[in-house]
Parts: sequence; structure tokens; C-alpha cells
Amino acid sequence: ADILRVGVAGLGTVGASVVRLLQRQREALAARTGREIRLVGVSSRDKAKDRGVDLSGAAFFDDPAALAASQSIDLFVELIGGAEGAARKSVETALAHGRSVVTANKALLAAHGAELAALAEEKHAALAFEASVAGGIPIVKTLREGLAGNSIERVYGVLNGTCNYILSRMELERLSFSDCLTEAQRLGYAEADPTFDIGGFDTAHKLAILASLAFGTRIAPEAVDIEGIEHVTLADIDAAAELGFRIKLLGVAQRTAQGIEQRVHPTMVRKTTSIAQVMGVTNAVTIDADAVHELTLVGPGAGGDATASAVVADIADIARGVRSAPFGLPSASLRPCERTPVQRHEGG
Ligand code: NDP
Ligand code: HSE
Repeated sequence: ADILRVGVAGLGTVGASVVRLLQRQREALAARTGREIRLVGVSSRDKAKDRGVDLSGAAFFDDPAALAASQSIDLFVELIGGAEGAARKSVETALAHGRSVVTANKALLAAHGAELAALAEEKHAALAFEASVAGGIPIVKTLREGLAGNSIERVYGVLNGTCNYILSRMELERLSFSDCLTEAQRLGYAEADPTFDIGGFDTAHKLAILASLAFGTRIAPEAVDIEGIEHVTLADIDAAAELGFRIKLLGVAQRTAQGIEQRVHPTMVRKTTSIAQVMGVTNAVTIDADAVHELTLVGPGAGGDATASAVVADIADIARGVRSAPFGLPSASLRPCERTPVQRHEGG
């Protein structure tokens, strides 16, 4: 049988779940793609650590870039994280060798997505990143394929599982901000540096990727007006509740007369709206478009299995020979980031 030889770099929350899912769905994936998807190489910092997965058939590489360059693989899966360092180097190496890449790394895409996409195009390789936005929700595919016939006006939603988990548990269980964050870290939801989550930067990275897909803008996290949830207190949550609102960290990208506006900030949403019902690690993305009008996708926004679902979907696409152009050609201009207060209420 035809074989797709896969190398996975990063065996943490997402990497170990991807290995497990590939093994659990081996036969179904072979039937769906017509190819055997075989794990032939892995890389992590600690070779000896027990990850609760069977790695017996895979060669271990201390250096992810060596795995990315290895002729033993057809596809490189980057699940290390971070915009620079080992993640960037290994992804660049894989693409430079004409090898397709699957990544969940929104920080890397936000910082270097345009160059990586150009390198992928030049080398006729795929660069797939479904897992980089909203965990298990297939939002990249939805925007790129499902809504190809639409002109999109606005994309917005809850894009960070850690923040939504924190805000939900603070409200419902009266827990402190720091206890909720610690629990989100224990569950594998948070970034290695959780400042990316609570400071709104992770949401901004995801929003910049979504805006690029929805509007054809260049991925530009520096053009996002960002405010995180670090200063949200139980008293704020209670005050909002008394008025019939809930506080959510929203990312919003929309067309304006001045260009595409992108902003991330804690927002008062009326409790009766559907976005206010999105609790815990769940994410929701709403798209306003001319033909479909309004579409909302809701699902798990972080966590090993949910994210692995999106990673494996990309692997299956590549096994089938699907190679989408990573991002559209720049077609819309970005509205400069304004560090002044903007509208803080959504959904009525
Ligand atoms: P983890 O911290 O759990 O795992 C990171 C892995 O990378 C570890 O196995 C670590 O090795 C390995 N690693 C780190 N540095 C190196 C290096 N220099 N060389 C080789 N291996 C290295 O992260 P996650 O699994 O949570 O996240 C991975 C990626 O997925 C990130 O880009 C993240 O943003 C993204 N993501 C995460 C989600 C989640 O819910 N966790 C959801 C969506 C995306 P070791 O284990 O030996 O230390
Ligand atoms: N730290 C991220 C979150 C992981 O909590 O949403 C998923 O991208």
C-alpha cells in the first residue's frame, strides 16, 4: 500500500494526543485516504519521558530540524510551539526540503506566516494549520472552502479556551483568577507562557489568521488592538451579571470604511445571547457574510484530543493530496491599530 511517512516534533499535550489518535484511527484513516499513515520519526526534549503512547516504530531525533530534514519522512508535524527557536527552524527546514508541514502553532504563523506560505508555494509543499485556531473547530476549512462563495463582513468569537475557562469558573464557582489559571495549565489548555492566553495575544494571533483567511489581509498581529483579561475581577463579573451581562474575551475582525479592524478585549455580552452561553474551554466563531448571513461554529477550543482532531484532519488532507494555498493574496487593507477604547458591548 502507498504510505505517507510522518514525523512528529513535540510530544506534549497535543503531540502525544496526535500519536494516539493516528494509532486509534489507523484503519479508518487508511480507508478514507487510500494510504497508510505511518509514524516514522518523533522529536522532543526528553527522550526518556513516558508519554503513555507507543513510539516503538518511530526513530527518535534530538533535533526537530534534523527530523524535518530527514529523507525518512514525507510530512513534518510541528507541535513544539513558539514563534522562534526550534519550531521556526524545523518548519523552515521541512519546507525548504519541499516537505509538507502541519502545525498548530498560531504564534509562529502570526509572526512568520507570510514568509512560510511563500516558501511552501515555492517548494510546492503544503502548509496546513487547522489546529492553530479554535482547537477542534474546523474553522479554517469552513472559511476557505465552505464559505468560498461569500463576501465576509465580520468574524468574531471566543478564541481562547484558557480565558473562557477562567472567566466561566470564576463566575460559576467563585474561584480566584489564579486558581482557575493553574487548573487550565494542569489540563493542558494554556500556552507554555500563559501570558499569551490571559494577555489576549493568543486570541490576537488567531484573529490575525482568521482575518487573513476571511478578508485576504496580510497576517499582522501588530494591527490588532489587544486587551487581555488579567485585570478582570470577580467584582467586575458580578457587576456585569447584575446588569444581565457576562464578560467574555472576544476577538473581532470586521470591514470598516478605513480597512479591516481587528480587536481583542474583554466584552460585556448580554446573557441571553448565544455567545454568552459558551462556557468553559469551549470556543465559538461567528461569521457574518453576504450569502450565508450568519454562521456560528461552537466546539472545544483547546486540549489534547480536540486539537489532535484538527491536526489529524490536516494530515488526512495531505495524505489525499490536498494542498490549499495557505493564505489568500493580500486584497484588503488593514486599519491601523488604535490604542483608544473601542466599543465594548457586543450582541445587543
Ligand atoms: P506542550 O508544552 O505540552 O508540548 C511541547 C512539546 O514540544 C513537548 O513535548 C516538548 O518536549 C517539545 N519541545 C519543546 N522544545 C523542544 C525542542 N527544542 N526540541 C524538541 N522538542 C521540543 O505544548 P502543547 O502540546 O500544549 O502545544 C503545542 C503546540 O500546539 C503549540 O504551538 C500550541 O500553541 C499549540 N496548540 C495547543 C493547544 C492545547 O490545547 N494545548 C491547542 C491548539 C494549539 P518535552 O515534552 O520533552 O519537554
Ligand atoms: N492556549 C490556547 C487556548 C490553546 O487556551 O485557547 C488553543 O489554541
